[in-house]
Amino acid sequence: MTDRGLNKNDKMGAYWMPFTPNKAFKAAPRMLESADGLYVTTTEGRKIFDGSSGLWCSALGHNHPKVTEAIRAQAGKLDYSTAFQFGHPQAFELAEILAETLPGGLNHLFFTNSGSESVDTALKIALGYHRIRGEGQRTRFIGRFNGYHGVGFGGISVGGMVNNRKYFGAQLPGVDHMPFPYDASMHNSFGQPESGAQYADELETIIALHDASTIAAVIVEPVVGSAGVYVPPKGYLKRLREITKKHGILLIFDEVITAFGRLGYASASERFGVEPDLMTMAKALTNGAVPMGAVAAQSAIYNTYMDGVEGVELFHGYTYSAHPLAVAAALAAQRAYKEEGIYENVRENEQYFGEAIHALKDAHSSITDVRNIGYMSALTHSRINDVPMSRSSKIFQRAYENGLKVRVSGDTIAIAPPLITKRRDIDLITDMMVKTIKEVD
Ligand SMILES: Cc1ncc(COP(=O)(O)O)c(C=O)c1O
Repeated sequence: MTDRGLNKNDKMGAYWMPFTPNKAFKAAPRMLESADGLYVTTTEGRKIFDGSSGLWCSALGHNHPKVTEAIRAQAGKLDYSTAFQFGHPQAFELAEILAETLPGGLNHLFFTNSGSESVDTALKIALGYHRIRGEGQRTRFIGRFNGYHGVGFGGISVGGMVNNRKYFGAQLPGVDHMPFPYDASMHNSFGQPESGAQYADELETIIALHDASTIAAVIVEPVVGSAGVYVPPKGYLKRLREITKKHGILLIFDEVITAFGRLGYASASERFGVEPDLMTMAKALTNGAVPMGAVAAQSAIYNTYMDGVEGVELFHGYTYSAHPLAVAAALAAQRAYKEEGIYENVRENEQYFGEAIHALKDAHSSITDVRNIGYMSALTHSRINDVPMSRSSKIFQRAYENGLKVRVSGDTIAIAPPLITKRRDIDLITDMMVKTIKEVD
């Protein structure tokens, strides 16, 4: 017996799609069949520019030959290996490469399979770290309004996007949230807003409320991604670092989107010159070709575990941690980023990209705010008849029909092309956006 046909728009009901209005999608599906470089191809054979890099993943574009070949070769050699009590040499090699790539003392890598798992892993590492040091009462976490840290219970607890939390009552206890460091005075800033660092001082208020001795860690996205690309005001992250350090609280940077070139550097931490205690990564780690995430920990944290616990130092891990295919993809991607000057390409063209995106304001008065940094950008659109997402979702669909894949989140359209994107491709993106915005009107 099946009831798959009962729901009139749900003829494709067997697949319960994530973060998707299932009924609307299944009534008018957008189906992709293949991809290459900057383009994806639909099942009808239409080529679409991937203006969202998959989902912030495909830094090298799609089907990069070095990544594809590495996965192919690995699949025929060691298809799977447990990471519990066994290792394979490439996992150690990848950890070494990442330790060299990431700033300062972020020298120890724990492998996961996604951004959500990386976040929950980082939160657990923070709790364990304090406990081993004899400060087991430090159990609170501080996140931020509008933060996105994946969909695990830890991630939604420290996250601050309402829809991701409101349906799911049970969350981590003892979590508080800092205010969102953005206001109308920062609208249309090019890159980092000049003022706004004082938003970090709100952390002192929250710390005073709970007492520092109860707080394990503060977690933020250095650049807010999923909520619509919000760039930190100048000095804001540095101040967060100073305050957390002063109170013995760990600082976690969730770099699932920003790690590996999105900002023209290996990490946002490097770009902003602020070193967290723990850093989460995923997405471009493998160019998105095989699921993989990672947490980088400062040596002081790793050494606390190594010196403080006998036997299994961290009771945590995943069946697919350091999966050989993911590791092969990550090694190939990391090498390609260096060999092919991918971060340099973003740095060379960031100004051009930012100016092109800001110029879209001229296309229509419906654009109320434009934000950019590196190859991340977003346009906020006014609503039609005050209905949330009324204009942005139309722009998202029309852009797709016009040959451009973008990301819609609330009233915001995010444009974040693969990091191999050149100036002529940026022109193409903005031409398609101007046409789209005018057509939607
Ligand atoms: C900052 C951040 N953290 C965590 C996640 C969750 O990653 P995943 O979807 O791989 O679980 C995302 C995903 O977009 C993200 O942007």
